[in-house]
Amino acid sequence: MKKAIVLLAGLGALLVAAAASAQYAGWTVPPTAKEEKSPLKPSADLVKRGRGVFTSNCQKCHGPEARGDGPESDPRSPAADLTDEFRYELNPEGVLYHKILNGHPPEMPAFKSQLSRDQIWQLVEYLKSIRKPQ
Ligand code: HEC
Repeated sequence: MKKAIVLLAGLGALLVAAAASAQYAGWTVPPTAKEEKSPLKPSADLVKRGRGVFTSNCQKCHGPEARGDGPESDPRSPAADLTDEFRYELNPEGVLYHKILNGHPPEMPAFKSQLSRDQIWQLVEYLKSIRKPQ
């Protein structure tokens, strides 16, 4: 009996892991990303810095308001509208961080060698600030 329970628990964990990786198919998002929290203290200044990093690195594809309508967004595979409500739950801050860090080549470039870790967390703060109120 005990063995069956252990087996079932193991199977459950496997299924959860499979569902989690399918949710972020193509992205390098570690399983712990959902619980990861920003090391930076939220502030208006942080949001402002994030906006600056966004304007210089992301706006060309994601557009000035992050709606996915920048001039370099490919209409066949458009840059995501980062203000979409369905993304709130999909992308808690740790997930956003890893998506920006590792990208989704070839559509979405990785920024780990272009931006510092702090800059990426600044971006995360900015992206959280422009989500429509629920
Ligand atoms: C060359 C164009 C391009 C640039 C530059 C770019 N992105 Fe993207 N981004 C994309 C595309 C295309 C997608 C959709 C990819 C997909 O879903 O497969 C995307 C997806 C994303 C996602 C995931 C959305 C989701 O819910 O899955 C985030 C977050 C994101 N980009 C943030 C950024 C940030 C922040 C920057 C600047 C540091 C940036 N992107 C720069 C093209 C770009």
